[in-house]
Amino acid sequence: MRKFFVFACLFLLIGCSSSKDQLVMVTEAGFAPYEYYENDEIVGVDIEIAKEIANYMGKKLVVKDVYFDSIINELNSGKADMALAGMSITEERLEEVDFSYEYIKSRQVVIVRDGSNINDIKDIYNKKVAVQLGSVADQYFSDKYPNTSLVRQKKYLSMVEDLKANKVDLIVMDELPAKEIVSANNGLKIIDGYVFEDSYGIAVKKGNSELLKAINVVLERLISEGKIDEYVLRFTR
Ligand code: ARG
Repeated sequence: MRKFFVFACLFLLIGCSSSKDQLVMVTEAGFAPYEYYENDEIVGVDIEIAKEIANYMGKKLVVKDVYFDSIINELNSGKADMALAGMSITEERLEEVDFSYEYIKSRQVVIVRDGSNINDIKDIYNKKVAVQLGSVADQYFSDKYPNTSLVRQKKYLSMVEDLKANKVDLIVMDELPAKEIVSANNGLKIIDGYVFEDSYGIAVKKGNSELLKAINVVLERLISEGKIDEYVLRFTR
């Protein structure tokens, strides 16, 4: 019994110390230039930022790829420490997690097929619209335009296939990832204008102020040194 107790303690100690050396980032890695796969490795703007945070804290960065709509649950169940996923700061999300300073400004834009008759943002509301499940685009249409025929997908790749195959009329998504998609796929374009503006933050479990403080120190430095713009350029095709 005594022996068992000693072993149990040792096990706990080892378990804890190893996780204390790690900083687990959760993301959805189908979102170039922020996070995407390059030869089996996840790279991008958010990864560079996360590396800086891990360095600052003296920890080893672990990157976890999940579906976008499970990111908040990963944080709140303690399976990950922070989310960097081009994640927009919204009032709804602020009820569930805490956000860092904003580090990127973005806009929600519209991708259509070349030759589409949709030329104006006001034309998008009675069409078949593809969005990522759980994204701000999903929320926007679900809340404000519940009559829009929405197709919610877990991966942008599936939306692009649906758009090419005429299964949807348009995709609403973040500007830089949209540009990446258009430059990687023939026959698609972004229409003029945007649906709404948003800005990205790093999310942590509510009340994790120690980690949030460290994140904000690093973000402040990276922003003032122009590093984030540099990363964006580096990972943009
Ligand atoms: N900015 C949008 C949002 O917060 C989309 C983010 C999608 N990010 C991703 N890694 N798939 O809802």
